Amino acid sequence: MDQSKIRNFSIIAHIDHGKSTLADRILEMTETVQHREMVDQILDSLDLERERGITIKLNAVQLKYKAKDGEEYVFHLIDTPGHVDFTYEVSRSLAACEGAVLVVDAAQGIEAQTLANVYLALDNDLEIVPVINKIDLPSAQPEVVKEEIENVIGLDCTEAPLISAKTGLNVQDVLEEVVKKIPAPAGDPQAPLKALVFDSVYDSYRGVIVFVRVKDGRIQVGDKIRFMNNQAEYEVLECGVRNPKEVKLDALECGEVGWFAASIKSVQDVSVGATVTKADNPANEALPGYRKMNPMVYCGLYPTDSAKYNDLRDALEKLKLNDASLQFEAETSQALGFGFRCGFLGLLHMDVVQERLEREYNLSLIATAPSVIYHCYLTDGSMVKIDNPAHLPEVQRIERLEEPYVTANIMVPNEYIGAVMELCQNKRGIYKDMHYIDANRNTLEYEIPLGEIVFDFFDKLKSCTKGYASLDYEISEYKKSDLVKMDILLNGELIDALSIIVHRDFAYTRGNSITVKLKELIPKQQFEIPVQAAVNGKIIARTNIKSLRKNVLAKCYGGDISRKKKLLEKQKEGKKRMKAVGSVEIPQEAFMAVLSMD
Ligand code: GTP
Repeated sequence: MDQSKIRNFSIIAHIDHGKSTLADRILEMTETVQHREMVDQILDSLDLERERGITIKLNAVQLKYKAKDGEEYVFHLIDTPGHVDFTYEVSRSLAACEGAVLVVDAAQGIEAQTLANVYLALDNDLEIVPVINKIDLPSAQPEVVKEEIENVIGLDCTEAPLISAKTGLNVQDVLEEVVKKIPAPAGDPQAPLKALVFDSVYDSYRGVIVFVRVKDGRIQVGDKIRFMNNQAEYEVLECGVRNPKEVKLDALECGEVGWFAASIKSVQDVSVGATVTKADNPANEALPGYRKMNPMVYCGLYPTDSAKYNDLRDALEKLKLNDASLQFEAETSQALGFGFRCGFLGLLHMDVVQERLEREYNLSLIATAPSVIYHCYLTDGSMVKIDNPAHLPEVQRIERLEEPYVTANIMVPNEYIGAVMELCQNKRGIYKDMHYIDANRNTLEYEIPLGEIVFDFFDKLKSCTKGYASLDYEISEYKKSDLVKMDILLNGELIDALSIIVHRDFAYTRGNSITVKLKELIPKQQFEIPVQAAVNGKIIARTNIKSLRKNVLAKCYGGDISRKKKLLEKQKEGKKRMKAVGSVEIPQEAFMAVLSMD
């Protein structure tokens, strides 16, 4: 293959600006996918992705495009996720490209993650091709958005295609721009092999399938390859590309993006960002790897049925094969028994993992409220990291507590600035800066405790701005805070899985709303249950759940046994997600009560 005819690119965009729709159109137009096979958003292959309409795992496809200059080009299109939780995966896929198509919604303009993604692309020295999408919308203002891109990002938009990814209008212009603007891969086909691993998936028959971008040299079936980070060696048994179906080839040439399988049994041998070279003719130095991404949010996951503990461990291990950013370790809770403390990139990631465990592995889980990592400095001079509020040492031993802060950039139309500032204030935000994007919009910069973002910040932000604000954040530093542990007692018994760490100033209001919320969520039982919130052993809030047991059978007067069975069955169903803790049955929602409070 002629290397000068290869173009490797990603599509980057703020969430919902139409990246996956554009990818679909491109696949269709290059006839990579026949019309009848076309399922909307073919790159989003996980069921969950299709259902939620978001892109989670990246995916690479090869397509052929006959350009207006009469030449045939080979494109490798690498899809990227748009959500802030998955920034890490975006930067991974960008490292495999020479260019990026930047999609901006003509009705929304630049949003927080448009900028964040542009910066990632610039960090990777990519050529950026701006594209204005959704021009079919009545509210589209393509000229205004073009100007915004020029002013805010500094990209020349004179030739930016104005498209509708939905109808296909002008999508061909995007492909022409890709050919014209994005450089061909610069690697040396004669040099020793250097290929960058940007993703891997586990296949139970063939072992790990490794996705690579060949930077120098070539990979061929039968080659003995070596991972430069750990020296592990394998023989390549199969290689090829995806279009998006798997296509087997004899070799992957210099500049290409594809996959290989080498009967690799352990994903630990394949770390993303690693360099693959040949065992008999190795390269001198590895390609620059990736920044390691650490989980930001932790929660406990427990099976509702304790007998499923091993199943949960197996499922987590399997998920980890495809998701290196997922972390977990065994933990026990007095209330919930045996389970795992799991670390996630963010709340969406946590949600996705939880849902996959339940759906793909048929597990019924109790998840505890998410927590960040606190740094707890002890009076003896040492520091412990606390990812589970229940494990906070006694107050007497604590010298001070520090919590992670993020720098948040919030883009917001002028009329909502007041509302956003008030929200940030309520979330203990520290005002930093404000600058204009254009006459109608501003960016507000705040430092906010991650712990507050993890709660309901995003939902609140959306609701106080009617959905017009967008948020992007990155971790800045740990800062000292006046934090206390708040315990929840049910029927006088401390439920460790419900403990949270809160700012002292908010302890009373949070304590009150949690107890009220729990009263709503925990069904009445045969006896009265006091619900109490306590800080340092002192009760600060209390409600009672009145006793009463709903007799479901009272509804069937007749003697029809099958009807009774059905009702009992239904009640059992409703109970599935309950966990008996001591003498009290607690539903899953109760563990999340802290998340939905004012
Ligand atoms: P993530 O994968 O979650 O990051 O989102 P995305 O950027 O891939 O957005 P997606 O392609 O899923 O599109 C979001 C919504 O916008 C969908 O409902 C699309 O149907 C719609 N959409 C995309 N392109 C157009 C367009 O050109 N015109 C109109 N009217 N709607 C569009």
